[in-house]
Amino acid sequence: MTEPFRFLTAGESHGRTLGVTIEGVPAGLGLTEADLEVDLARRQRGYGRGARQQIEHDRAEIVAGVRHGRTLGSPILLLVANRDWDNWTKVMQVEPLSDEQAAALAEAAAGGDKRSTPVTRVRPGHADLAGALKYGHDDVRNVLERASARETAARVAAGGVARAFLRELGIEVWSFTAEVGGVAVDPARASRSREEADASPLRCPDPEAEAAMIGRIDEAREKGDTIGGVFEVVATGVPIGLGSYVQWDRRLDAALAAAVMSINIVKGVELGLGFEQTRRFGSEVHDVIEGRGEAGRWIHRSNNAGGLTAGVSNGEPIVVRGAVKPISTLARPLPSADLLSGEAVEKAHYERSDISVVPAAGIVGEAMVLLTLARFVLEKTGGDSMAEVADAMARWRERLATPIQPTGVAALAAALATASTKAEAEGGTAGSGGDD
Ligand SMILES: Cc1cc2nc3c(=O)[nH]c(=O)nc-3n(C[C@H](O)[C@H](O)[C@H](O)COP(=O)(O)O)c2cc1C
Repeated sequence: MTEPFRFLTAGESHGRTLGVTIEGVPAGLGLTEADLEVDLARRQRGYGRGARQQIEHDRAEIVAGVRHGRTLGSPILLLVANRDWDNWTKVMQVEPLSDEQAAALAEAAAGGDKRSTPVTRVRPGHADLAGALKYGHDDVRNVLERASARETAARVAAGGVARAFLRELGIEVWSFTAEVGGVAVDPARASRSREEADASPLRCPDPEAEAAMIGRIDEAREKGDTIGGVFEVVATGVPIGLGSYVQWDRRLDAALAAAVMSINIVKGVELGLGFEQTRRFGSEVHDVIEGRGEAGRWIHRSNNAGGLTAGVSNGEPIVVRGAVKPISTLARPLPSADLLSGEAVEKAHYERSDISVVPAAGIVGEAMVLLTLARFVLEKTGGDSMAEVADAMARWRERLATPIQPTGVAALAAALATASTKAEAEGGTAGSGGDD
């Protein structure tokens, strides 16, 4: 059995185009290229990003799986063109190089053209050394072209499809910058609405913290350095019951952690209160269950678990935090070594790079959460068409809101408990203990 929903990306950072195939999207979902534009643009923004973002202005082209604005149930293929391709046609040429072309590239490299020069001074913290040795490359460009976060544009395009799908089912996902360089959002000062936060330079709800975060990024820039932080992704409208505790690979918490950890640059994932739980007593951690509220919905007094208990969604918002390390390409490069000679060198390779990418990484985090939730929703509902999925989801939500009718031992125990309560109210006692 294959997964009910899966996706795979392809493409190099300076190749002609990125691509992503998404399989398992039900038929009948309204989908246009405009649906995918918003998140692609959000990924490109953020104080601290490099010049490339001004060049690209990403757009996803839908080339398969959609007809007359509706999905067909067949695999969807999206292409995101690399607008910088024109400057890389020879360096990244797909066809074998002729002797003349190879000589021209070598000549350009000798003349100081950086693009044509093979990369051998491996960057600490990047994929360069391990990647080159693993795949047997003598030019690190063969590694960094794919390890580059340019690939995440394809994930964000796919995330846009998952967003359109989940929105139909009442599930929304967004993110914000929670921390940069040790400066954290203070929830008490987080006065911005979601829209205002989204439009701010760091996509941050706390203006005071954001000003200090910008200061940390400027400090890094002045020093030729880079800086990391934390993003937080929140999913609302997720019903109880996605994922399962019955087998390790069916847990939603594990899948979300893996999906967010798969983002190049994320070095830690927390769900809800995360590691902070280890510093508190249980009474300060666990979310008291208050019972059913309006429309039969189960209410927790707090959401320290981040909407997930035992690998199953518990009806509260799902909260996932990703730890973003500082970018490893430094304008003032660290010392390193040369791949070919094995000798130490004074400076690692440098090519145009971001200084801090926490807001952008948050958008990739949203995409990975959206894509993971889409998979788990489809596992729960099944269905080949949107109508089928929407029906199944509506039925599931209704079932959750309906009082449980006990059967078997549970029914007998409930009947006895009711009788005992009634007898007590009437001044006597009842139940298994008797009154003699
Ligand atoms: C949105 C985004 C932008 C990034 N931009 C850069 C960059 O400009 N320069 C760089 O060296 N790394 C950048 N990275 C991180 C690298 O792709 C990543 O550190 C590298 O592939 C090694 O993987 P690892 O960090 O998971 O170990 C970026 C990551 C993301 C998510």
